[in-house]
Amino acid sequence: MVDTLLAIETSCDETSAAVLRRDGSVPVLSSLVVLSQDVHEVFGGVVPELASRAHLQTLDPVVAKALEAAHTDLDEIDSIAVTAGPGLVGSLLVGVCYAKALAAAGGKKMIGVNHLEGHVFAPLIGDPELAPPFVALLVSGGHTMLLDVPKWGHYRMLGQTRDDAAGEAFDKVAAILDLGYPGGPAVEKLAEKGEDRFHFPRPMLSEGFDFSFSGLKTAVLYAARDSDDLDRDRADIACSFQCAAIDVLVSKAIRAVKETGRETLIISGGVACNETLALAGKDRLGNLARVSVAPARLNTDNAAVIGRAGWFHLEEGTGSDAFLEADPRMPWPGLENA
Ligand code: KG4
Ligand code: ZN
Repeated sequence: MVDTLLAIETSCDETSAAVLRRDGSVPVLSSLVVLSQDVHEVFGGVVPELASRAHLQTLDPVVAKALEAAHTDLDEIDSIAVTAGPGLVGSLLVGVCYAKALAAAGGKKMIGVNHLEGHVFAPLIGDPELAPPFVALLVSGGHTMLLDVPKWGHYRMLGQTRDDAAGEAFDKVAAILDLGYPGGPAVEKLAEKGEDRFHFPRPMLSEGFDFSFSGLKTAVLYAARDSDDLDRDRADIACSFQCAAIDVLVSKAIRAVKETGRETLIISGGVACNETLALAGKDRLGNLARVSVAPARLNTDNAAVIGRAGWFHLEEGTGSDAFLEADPRMPWPGLENA
């Protein structure tokens, strides 16, 4: 049985630790610390070596802070969950080595967690009533997937992106419009001031469950390049892009809900921080399905969701040993292609 779990996430450019504690039969989040590395901002994207070095410097104090905030210490921790992949290999290695050392030194249980599965557990932390079956729209900086989830630990891939991920498209559009990095929040903020005047294409809207965002990104590039006054058009371009991206994401999620007959949709991953997306999902699904979206701090990369997924697997009797690897292309356990 798991009672007090320490979770660690270092797959990209967030150094994060969390503590989860048993409350009756469910784990409750006791603390969460997320340190976003700002060193990458001047480069307009994550520089892998800098990310690994920053994790190496900050992981120990981040863990100390998470333990302190949960009013606990390492002795009380009985289990450790750590992101084992996918992600940047150097960044993953820091977290995995750290977790292994703590587990070996303290005789604790350990589990390597798939980062994507962590994202799917996000809404469960604040919504303990959430239970499969449901459809999951997972939209992050590296992935865009529609999944059917018949039960926790089992995932059926309905569709995914054929080129750019949704978050990647937001980041690229932000770069085209000179809005800085990471771009998602900046595009959303600017879009509030604009109108859907450009009517960009909705790629693959009427075809199945796969996504494609690169054509939309190119349409944005041409609109920005052809504008004779980008300062005037910038907000309208941001709004038109966001409308097109959200229209495609929500339309496909609705199709998945209808086809599977599931009565719940979860939206998770960094792009789920986009309030316009969450509102459009709730609005357009209406009575068809309940929509569950975690608060923003649980949708961007963080250790709490890794801890929640790890808790589930440890309780199921699955764990990792000292041979746990950091795998940049880690397969997702329990994922099958539809
Ligand atoms: O899940 P995440 O933190 O990291 C990955 O696993 O990739 O997602 C990061 C992505 C970035 O592309 C970022 O621009 C996007 O999530 N994002 C947003 C918003 N906040 C973060 N995209 C659109 N609107 C937002 N408000
Ligand atoms: Zn992520």
